[in-house]
Amino acid sequence: MSRLTDLLRQVRGTDAQLGADLEKEISALTKRRSFGLVFERHQPEAVELPGQPIRRGAKVRVLQPRGETAKGDSRLWRVDSIETDFAGQQIAQLIELVKDAPEHTTAPIEDLVVVAEFDDKIYPGLVETGRVERGGDKPFHTVINAENFHALEMLTYTHRGKVDAIYIDPPYNTGARDWKYNNDYVEGDDDYRHSKWLAFMERRLLVARELLNPDDSVLIVTIDEKEYLRLGMLLEQTFPEASIQMISSVINPSGVARKNQFYRADEYLYFVFLGTSTVVPHGGNMLTPAEAYEGKRIDIWRRLLRSGTNSRRQDGVKQFYPFWIDEESKRIHSIGDYLPLGEDPKAVTPPLPGLVPCWPIRSDNGEGCWQISSETARTGLAEGTVKLGSYTASKGRWSVSYLRNAEKQRLARGELEVVGSDQNGALILKQSESIARTLNPVTVWNQVSHNAGAGGSNIIRALLPDRKFPFPKSLFAVEDALRFFVKEKPDAVVLDFFSGSGTTAHAIMRLNKQDDGRRQCISVTNNEVSAEEQGKLRKQSLRPGDTEWERWGICDYITKPRIRAAITGKTPDGEPIKGEYKFTDEFPMAEGFEENAAFFTLTYEAPLSVRHHRAFERIAPMLWLRAGATGRLIDDLGDRGWDISAVYAVLENIDDAESFFDAMCGAEAVHTVFVVADDDAAFQMVCRELRSDLHVVRLYESYLQNFEINQGRGF
Ligand SMILES: C[S@@+](CC[C@H](N)C(=O)[O-])C[C@H]1O[C@@H](n2cnc3c(N)ncnc32)[C@H](O)[C@@H]1O
Repeated sequence: MSRLTDLLRQVRGTDAQLGADLEKEISALTKRRSFGLVFERHQPEAVELPGQPIRRGAKVRVLQPRGETAKGDSRLWRVDSIETDFAGQQIAQLIELVKDAPEHTTAPIEDLVVVAEFDDKIYPGLVETGRVERGGDKPFHTVINAENFHALEMLTYTHRGKVDAIYIDPPYNTGARDWKYNNDYVEGDDDYRHSKWLAFMERRLLVARELLNPDDSVLIVTIDEKEYLRLGMLLEQTFPEASIQMISSVINPSGVARKNQFYRADEYLYFVFLGTSTVVPHGGNMLTPAEAYEGKRIDIWRRLLRSGTNSRRQDGVKQFYPFWIDEESKRIHSIGDYLPLGEDPKAVTPPLPGLVPCWPIRSDNGEGCWQISSETARTGLAEGTVKLGSYTASKGRWSVSYLRNAEKQRLARGELEVVGSDQNGALILKQSESIARTLNPVTVWNQVSHNAGAGGSNIIRALLPDRKFPFPKSLFAVEDALRFFVKEKPDAVVLDFFSGSGTTAHAIMRLNKQDDGRRQCISVTNNEVSAEEQGKLRKQSLRPGDTEWERWGICDYITKPRIRAAITGKTPDGEPIKGEYKFTDEFPMAEGFEENAAFFTLTYEAPLSVRHHRAFERIAPMLWLRAGATGRLIDDLGDRGWDISAVYAVLENIDDAESFFDAMCGAEAVHTVFVVADDDAAFQMVCRELRSDLHVVRLYESYLQNFEINQGRGF
């Protein structure tokens, strides 16, 4: 490239226009990636929106007839007009959405489903579908039933740059009908399955990136052997400024058989560190089982003789001195001064007759040096952190051991406990209970609690007896992974946009219980019905969008009930949950958690109703989310045209705002005010009347600009 840059400079010197033209072409060429991860973007992705009203101009698909299990027609149509036939049925005239020679057809509108392609503009709304309140004034956890791409776009309005951690466990692309692209399962024999998966992930990661706090946040993505190589490269490409690590985590120690290959016992977690994001040690090292060292006596003494490079006498002149040993009592009597280079140790006389010297002599019998000076060694001997080691008869030599500074600091922090001292006065130590919280975690994890069966499926079985969810994560694995980043952030906002059974929210509630935290989790998942279940439902003449179909969807059947059960401590039948959490803390699951949660479904609003303020009810939850999901949700402004809740307020009626300003004087906890103002001068007037520390957000212009899904991202 530098050669090209030089040539360009020369061309520009002689012909500026030619230089500019060439530069433009070269820049376009360099944008076409020729190495790294190259894949088809498969544009645009599309999602069916069952339940959306069919209007003139809508983009639709024709559903397969009721009772039909074969794959439906994937063509897209535009509704040209809707007429009512003689039997009173509404029939849509459809035009195929292709440039060349589009077909025309008709279909009853009940056989149509609205489709949103990801480059279509969409105005999202939220409808509350339930809530659980046991957490007083704590922020609410939220569960959003939605296509996650659209939910992420919606969150760019409410949480841009505000998310502290994202944990996702996306479909692993196993080829076993574990995920859909454009409404079709991606099968193992699909030639494009990897590029479809990459396109699917990239679109979502690019939006997720806008939600993460660029100064300090983390993205955690789990994956297995099928896509881990490609995912690693995609993450590098999408987060070029971040540092990335991959952890290998044992989730099934006996392993799953792989023909002619090693059995697979682990899966992987990518950690994408943004800004100053730092691992805060909290457990053991994640490799050694906690029970292997807790409370046990340990040997953390190190040899005082320096080894490796810089270990000759001349490398540490002042570290060449004798320990004088009383061999009868096996004690260090005293420590001599260093012997200047060139002087013979054999010429040094003992301080008392009978004492034997121990000089730093290396294994090759050459003169070496100790790790510390004689003064430091004397202090160590007095405090019990330097001791006589073993005697090697073949060499006729003693060794000396000591505690390094790192261990002395752990002692000072209380991570090591002094049990007593030996005959030499040297300390006898054991790991204190708290040691498990402060070891540095390593990149291979092997924790029994991370076993997907015991920590995942069994927990779901206890919370939701008789309901099944395929492959939930171990609750404790998610808790451990997140604790490294949110342990010292009691107000952290955590997002999981492939939340499945809701394990992440559950883990966050457990973390809150451990330190009285007020962390909140946003869980997004669609209401997909499993492939197996779908077949059964279709045979019963049901289709997506039917109440009887939707009730079996993951979000309604698993995610929301699981979070409700975790908080209340009761199963959906009202029975106390059997069993205990057995992890860092043990308590009955029936105790539940003092937490709040609210459940929503993402809706798609018509731009006209948004523009005319008619969609306030649907927008209201987003304002509440943006203001921190705390306290009462303002969903009705009543006749006076304003309302003030715990931490935010909404003012619609600017013309009659005096009473609002008066009420705001006493509302000290309020930090955000949404003002509906089409007129700039009126908005400025409101701002002047309000406290200067308030965050004042203008609606609806900002709504239309920010909520309009797809703002030219080119998806
Ligand atoms: C592997 S599961 C996550 C399991 C979760 N970690 C747990 O412990 O239960 C992935 C989930 O993402 C959901 N999902 C897949 N594609 C989605 C999409 N485009 N939008 C929303 N949810 C999606 C699936 O329905 C599935 O429940």
